[in-house]
Amino acid sequence: MAKIIPVATFDCVVFGATGDLTLRKLLPALYYRCRDRQLTPESRIIGAARSELGDDGFRRRAAEALKDHVAPADLDPASVDRFCARLHYVRLDATQPDADWDGLRRLLHPDRVRVFYLATSPDLYGPICRNISLAELVTAESRVVLEKPIGHDLPSARAVNDHVGEVFQEPQIFRIDHYLGKETVQNLLALRFANSIFERLWNTDVIDHVQITVAETVGLEGRAGYFDRAGVLRDMVQNHLLQLLCLIAMEPPVSLEADRVRDEKLKVLRALRPFEPHDAATLTVRGQYTQGAIDGKPVPGYLADLGTDEPSTTETFVALKAEVRTWRWANVPFYLRTGKRLPKKVSEIVVQFRALPFSIFPEDSAEWQPNRLIIRLQPEEGIRLDVMTKDPGPGGLRLSPTGLDIRFATAFNTRFPDAYERLLMDTVRGNPTLFMRRDEVEAAWAWVEPILEAWAGRPDHPRSYPAGTWGPTASIALIERDGRTWHEDVV
Ligand code: BG6
Repeated sequence: MAKIIPVATFDCVVFGATGDLTLRKLLPALYYRCRDRQLTPESRIIGAARSELGDDGFRRRAAEALKDHVAPADLDPASVDRFCARLHYVRLDATQPDADWDGLRRLLHPDRVRVFYLATSPDLYGPICRNISLAELVTAESRVVLEKPIGHDLPSARAVNDHVGEVFQEPQIFRIDHYLGKETVQNLLALRFANSIFERLWNTDVIDHVQITVAETVGLEGRAGYFDRAGVLRDMVQNHLLQLLCLIAMEPPVSLEADRVRDEKLKVLRALRPFEPHDAATLTVRGQYTQGAIDGKPVPGYLADLGTDEPSTTETFVALKAEVRTWRWANVPFYLRTGKRLPKKVSEIVVQFRALPFSIFPEDSAEWQPNRLIIRLQPEEGIRLDVMTKDPGPGGLRLSPTGLDIRFATAFNTRFPDAYERLLMDTVRGNPTLFMRRDEVEAAWAWVEPILEAWAGRPDHPRSYPAGTWGPTASIALIERDGRTWHEDVV
């Protein structure tokens, strides 16, 4: 396991301290970093919210949250006490400039790294940043962390970025896409740029196409209001899937410096072929789940999850075919799909190599399958390269595909940290490599927006698919029309 180096002493102010994200993700992530002694003894986490809670109340709530969201084997009472002792709480309505900001000001140490984590609704990012500034809390060592979604479309994303940018300089702004903090996603950089074999094959001469699948079994999980306004294109494709596409498609950066990596990702986003209105019908499929079953258990349809009889045109599934218009990727389609209430939770990238140009083997000697590289992000993180091998035994020459398989859980026998652990520590370190720069977010919106507009202009609605299936059958047609199939034998 890599040696753990403590980060600089910090004060982390979490706005929205009693909300779901804080309790489910941020406090558990900080607990693990504290338990593993990555936080200096002086570092503090200051919860800020409107409820009357006090330090003790916040500590009690945090301890409850840890019980719910940390593996029991990892919760030892001494570590929990040590963690809770660093928690403080201020009652503050951060949307109000004339609220009592003095309590927070008094708590903050003048010379430490200051992290302002906005675990709030995105429409509050602008007002909260302005109030932080009016309260004169911004120092040279301050950073602000914003959760996605940054905006709802390009103009609103620009507005959020403008407002936040009036208070913080771009290097101080950390826009989280938690997929970038996932171990296997970071491993994509290692796979491509720390091994000489792949990069030489990473182009249209050798690669036939790429598939990116992010499938979820969950439905709305109490977020009906947000989700029905967003849909999966905004919620998942604009950020997570496009970031994965960028890491697969980008040119080697000249260094690992944050802006060099982000420059290359930005070039990919800008090279994506823009969607024309007529592409909506041929290059995209949107779906909405109806009632069905997952793991043998019945689940309601989308409208029942929303609690309405009114029709909704929000998509809970999308599949699309994208094109990166560069020399490297000419004629290599990127098929993307993601959806709620699919048969299993799995995120993977499949790089499918071209078929043999010529075979010396008899046609009937094999279940022919071109080589493919499967990068599994979750669950069972790992990398598998499928190669053709001879079946053992004397019974003639038979070939079948076999996997060269690295499963990280068995290869490393260690706990896989949650994405937030890495991202929070990078924020304190001031390393924005795994965060989205303003121009990346806006370029992603610029690509997604014409799809939304084209859908809005069409008479048809999302196609229905029963919960527990792989989306509408049209998504199978989308790829099979090109003589290809979705990879579904998830191992
Ligand atoms: C979030 C989306 O960004 O990612 C959710 O808003 C989605 O709708 C979640 O469920 C998926 O994240 P993960 O890490 O569970 O794949």
